[in-house]
Amino acid sequence: MDRAQLIAKLRSLPADRRIITALDVPTMDQALSLAERLGTAGGFVKVGLELFSAAGPEVVHHLKSLDRDIFLDLKYHDIPNTVGAAARASAALGASMCTMHASNGRAAMEAAAAALAEARVDSRTGRRPALLAVTILTSLSEQEMGEVSPSLDTLQDRIQRLARLAWDCGCDGLVCSAADLPGLRAVVGPEPLIVTPGIRPAGAEAGDQHRVATPGQAMDAGADFLVIGRPITQAPDPGAALRAIAAELA
Ligand code: C5P
Repeated sequence: MDRAQLIAKLRSLPADRRIITALDVPTMDQALSLAERLGTAGGFVKVGLELFSAAGPEVVHHLKSLDRDIFLDLKYHDIPNTVGAAARASAALGASMCTMHASNGRAAMEAAAAALAEARVDSRTGRRPALLAVTILTSLSEQEMGEVSPSLDTLQDRIQRLARLAWDCGCDGLVCSAADLPGLRAVVGPEPLIVTPGIRPAGAEAGDQHRVATPGQAMDAGADFLVIGRPITQAPDPGAALRAIAAELA
């Protein structure tokens, strides 16, 4: 399935299926009970490093049996051969989206993109998995970035250069914060899929997120999918919280 077809298919999903609920919990049982409490509105769920390290591929199988699409957020960063093989494994596992660091460079992004371009189309979703690139972690400040890799470029310059490279290497889209969205869209244009975390419905606690946007603001700025954790998972009724956000978007 080529990139344009995949992106069009993902963009045609209704609003409630374009919210990715982050299952940031330490056990399989907690993840499955949370996924069940999302009810039929629950579409995509994020399996990140914590849950995958604790519960492994089995949690993905169980979540898929609950009819969930999996955003497998393991942010691969390794040599091209390893990253390509990991992307192939995530496709075999049945992930709908997987992530890698754009700072892996061209060869690794091309290897992962080629692995997913060849992946078989899932009979339930009618899609192959999408490859999303993370440019620079939004948790890194200019100062920390200077310690890691001193440069005269600003963070925004680096983010935009990595985003262009990721798209050029065949990635299907990008993960980026709401704050960086308008600038990034201006640089990469309308085609790449953009997934945005750091979302807070109006009136919700920001918690440790610094630069937050409401679901509507992020979508208006050009996000295609939103990653939302605590505003849904810590609500008394996670299913109702998810439905309320989806209703606001629709
Ligand atoms: O609970 P909250 O809505 O803040 O969760 C956000 C989710 O998005 C978490 O799973 C977090 O790892 C992820 N994330 C983020 N900021 C980024 C990248 C990912 O909050 N820049």
